[in-house]
Amino acid sequence: MLDYPQVVLDFMNRDHAEFVALRGELLDLLTQNSPVAEVDTLLEKLLEHTRLHFAEEERLMLETQFPPYPVHKGEHEKVLANMADHFENWKAKRDAAALRKWLETPVADWFVAHVGTMDHVTAGFIKMNQ
Ligand SMILES: [Fe+2]
Repeated sequence: MLDYPQVVLDFMNRDHAEFVALRGELLDLLTQNSPVAEVDTLLEKLLEHTRLHFAEEERLMLETQFPPYPVHKGEHEKVLANMADHFENWKAKRDAAALRKWLETPVADWFVAHVGTMDHVTAGFIKMNQ
């Protein structure tokens, strides 16, 4: 299981736990050579979950007038575009090793860094200003 820091808002910690669980399930499917349709379903779920989770953070950043909102939102957009790219690539090539490699390292590194920096600061600000 991926080790990552907690923030001061419960809803964000719950979203993060769900992200980590979905990533873990996907890695399990890929390790077990599961049918591509199952991987597709879970990838869709991960993408949709991430969209909703980012949108909720963004809504609260706007509501509390978080000054570095554009920086945090910019990173969310970059991540969603990258995820969509990897998803398209997987659909085109069905390269399970490539998908696994991406989930194992870049996704994990990004997630832990993002939660520990941007989400950490954002959660503190929202909590103080809500
Ligand atoms: Fe975030």
